[in-house]
Amino acid sequence: MVTTVRSLGLQGISGYEVTVECFLSGGLPAFDVVGLGDTAVKEARERVRAAIKNCGAKFPVSRITVNLAPANLKKEGTVYDLPLLLGILAGEGEIDAPASDAAFIGELSLTGALRPISGVLPMAMAAVRAGVKTLYVPAANAAEATLADGLTVYGVETAPQLLSHLRGEKKLSPAARWEPAAETDAVPDFADVMGQENVKRALEIAAAGSHNVLLIGSPGAGKSMLARRLPSILPDMTHDEALESTEIWSVAGLTDSKHPLLTQRPFRAPHHTLSAAAMSGGGRALSPGEISLAHHGVLFLDEFPEFHRDVLESLRAPLEDGEVTITRAAGSVTLPSRFMLVGAMNPCRCGWYGHPSGRCRCSQKDVEKYVSKISGPLLDRMDLQVSVPSVEFEAMRRREKAESSAAVRERVNAARDIQKRRFAGTKVTCNAYMSAPMVGEFCRLDEAGEKLLKGAFDRLGLTARSHDKLLRVARTIADLDGSERIEVHHLAEAIQYRNTDILRGEG
Ligand SMILES: Nc1ncnc2c1ncn2[C@@H]1O[C@H](COP(=O)(O)OP(=O)(O)O)[C@@H](O)[C@H]1O
Ligand SMILES: [Mg+2]
Ligand SMILES: [Zn+2]
Repeated sequence: MVTTVRSLGLQGISGYEVTVECFLSGGLPAFDVVGLGDTAVKEARERVRAAIKNCGAKFPVSRITVNLAPANLKKEGTVYDLPLLLGILAGEGEIDAPASDAAFIGELSLTGALRPISGVLPMAMAAVRAGVKTLYVPAANAAEATLADGLTVYGVETAPQLLSHLRGEKKLSPAARWEPAAETDAVPDFADVMGQENVKRALEIAAAGSHNVLLIGSPGAGKSMLARRLPSILPDMTHDEALESTEIWSVAGLTDSKHPLLTQRPFRAPHHTLSAAAMSGGGRALSPGEISLAHHGVLFLDEFPEFHRDVLESLRAPLEDGEVTITRAAGSVTLPSRFMLVGAMNPCRCGWYGHPSGRCRCSQKDVEKYVSKISGPLLDRMDLQVSVPSVEFEAMRRREKAESSAAVRERVNAARDIQKRRFAGTKVTCNAYMSAPMVGEFCRLDEAGEKLLKGAFDRLGLTARSHDKLLRVARTIADLDGSERIEVHHLAEAIQYRNTDILRGEG
């Protein structure tokens, strides 16, 4: 007789339904798993065998054949331990076959305890789509599974506990739906930053429209300090955005039972020594890269030119497409990677080029060489290029409190609301991601604006891409101003951020 147990699998960051079919027959005792399982799936046999013995049941002396359907998709990881165990015990008559609207995922330890797995949220969402009503997961993953609407979730500690629940001896209670607690984590605040009004303004614009920013300045000017305060002014995440980002974090194994849902936009700041694979994602067991972990949030690259060239160049396509395709032995997958890129860099190797102290000893050629570590096409994608001057002594001495991040964030959220209304019914969420036709529709200029743009285009040698990018930034500046039209001064401010002396070699 064949017993079927419903389960789920992961392909990239999407879940899909898997049916575990167990067939017990006479003949020489054997235990085979077919259906394109990887090593972890093959090893499930040993874990299941031990777990069954250790929960007091008898491991059947039969020929066991397990098929993981659909057989054409590669199955990875340890989630099938639990359905395998149930399928075998049901085949042996130890328990009834599980209900047809129930599904099971979980890794077993040899003692029969259930260990947490990654990717629970996307699998739970797939369960809902497949019409599953009840989902059994390891106890540590239960909170995350409740984020998928419309499921009864049971968190299971051990296999014996589940067996007595299924036999009706001692019922488990369903997991309570997880609700976020009131925010308590304090993030650093812009109120700590003296002066630097121009840079703060640029970061406000960037946050409001999700534009990329490049900060350039001497050591100690406060670039890292400013960038690390960006999370405090990022716009609220919508529930859908939160779920999407969480799915990626879940597959990466970064969610935990206390924080199953990302409630704040991610801020990723990887070190400059990271590899191209760690940036883009990949590996045998798929791990999303930094650009996907930063989805709907910020990717901050401090010491921008120090990153490996191939790592920097790998950013270009995702910056354009909002997704990344990873090719692996198990087939290629596409992961979302819509992030706002923030880079910080010194203007030259010694760091002091353009500093009033005159300490820089680099030749013009050295400076150009250093800046050219950021390729033209990548530089072109940095919407706001901002020089961060060293703070003046007087400003530092005053020690007066600057405007708080909360006040800035209110303006950012207001500008986002305008964008949400503008793009309602489309996939676009903010100005930075407007398509070319949208730029044409929403970024009209008056005659004076056209003239100003034409002048800037010729003078700054803008490309077609930077032309559109400039208009998107101008749109955000007008939105922050609550203005329906893009006025000349909005455009002028946007142009100013494309006009950094150092990058034009005129520092
Ligand atoms: N505008 C500022 N207001 C207050 N403190 C500042 C400011 N700029 C720099 N600092 C101080 O200088 C330190 C170094 O700044 P940092 O952000 O690391 O500089 P950079 O990254 O440009 O080299 C900060 O940790 C902070 O204590
Ligand atoms: Mg720094
Ligand atoms: Zn120098």
